[in-house]
Amino acid sequence: MSRWLPCALLMLAIGCDDCGEDEPEPVADPLPGTAGLRSVADFADIADEEARSVALFEEMGKVLTHPRCVNCHPIGERPLQRAGEPHQPHVVRGEDGHGAPGLPCASCHGESHFRTVPGNPEWHLAPAEMAWEGKSLAAICGQIQDPERNGGKDMEALLEHMESDALVAYGWDPPEHLEPAPGSQALFGQLARQWAATGAHCPPEPTGDVEGPAEASEDEVSPEAGEASAPTEKAE
Ligand code: HEC
Ligand code: HEC
Repeated sequence: MSRWLPCALLMLAIGCDDCGEDEPEPVADPLPGTAGLRSVADFADIADEEARSVALFEEMGKVLTHPRCVNCHPIGERPLQRAGEPHQPHVVRGEDGHGAPGLPCASCHGESHFRTVPGNPEWHLAPAEMAWEGKSLAAICGQIQDPERNGGKDMEALLEHMESDALVAYGWDPPEHLEPAPGSQALFGQLARQWAATGAHCPPEPTGDVEGPAEASEDEVSPEAGEASAPTEKAE
């Protein structure tokens, strides 16, 4: 074993200013909170940086655990729809997320929305290692920043994906009968940047109830429960 290894590990642990790594910049010009998502500015008074980082991620969690995102990040072979029900008809991810050869996603999901069918030229499922369905925010937080499980993205690539990817953008622009994700993509992107700039800390793993969020926040027990009362996911 190399005698340099402990030294390299120590450098990793303490970090360094001149490693050439781009440290994410704090958000300078915070957008106002909107549509159920708080502003970066709302977290400025949390003095402890790690606690601020965790609180920012918990706010991002309102988006990450929303059905508009989770429906494409399922744990199984089948996409989800509406509030998280199995996709009708039964379709499977196939080899590359674009569906089985006989029934590719694109046979129904076109370039743009058509009536109740969401559309996007890139429409396909996130790979299984990026599944979020039923996972704790702590687990999602760990996996999205792990290049082994996030498609090889470093932090900057991950932030850019959240800020500007077209399938992520879909979350705020679904067909009319579906509830959009909270806030806006720009606001979500700012929360993510500030989370990264404060150390990208993760919430603690929930104890006891594995299904629940890390901490029940004052306004909702789970994203689904919070939504159940809203008449937005209407049946046809
Ligand atoms: C139409 C399906 C679809 C929807 C809807 C969707 N995603 Fe994804 N997502 C994907 C695919 C496919 C990938 C893999 C892309 C890649 O690796 O370049 C992915 C990857 C990601 C990643 C990379 C890291 C990881 O481990 O998952 C993030 C972050 C992400 N999506 C966020 C979101 C958010 C936030 C939303 C909702 C606002 C969302 N996605 C909605 C299909 C989707
Ligand atoms: C036979 C047609 C058909 C095929 C093939 C198909 N879908 Fe769908 N999909 C639909 C319809 C219709 C809806 C809208 C359901 C609703 O909300 O009423 C939908 C909805 C969805 C949703 C929910 C979007 C949201 O915002 O909740 C996801 C995710 C999805 N499809 C993914 C896929 C993926 C991935 C594939 C390929 C593996 C695929 N679909 C193949 C018809 C299809």
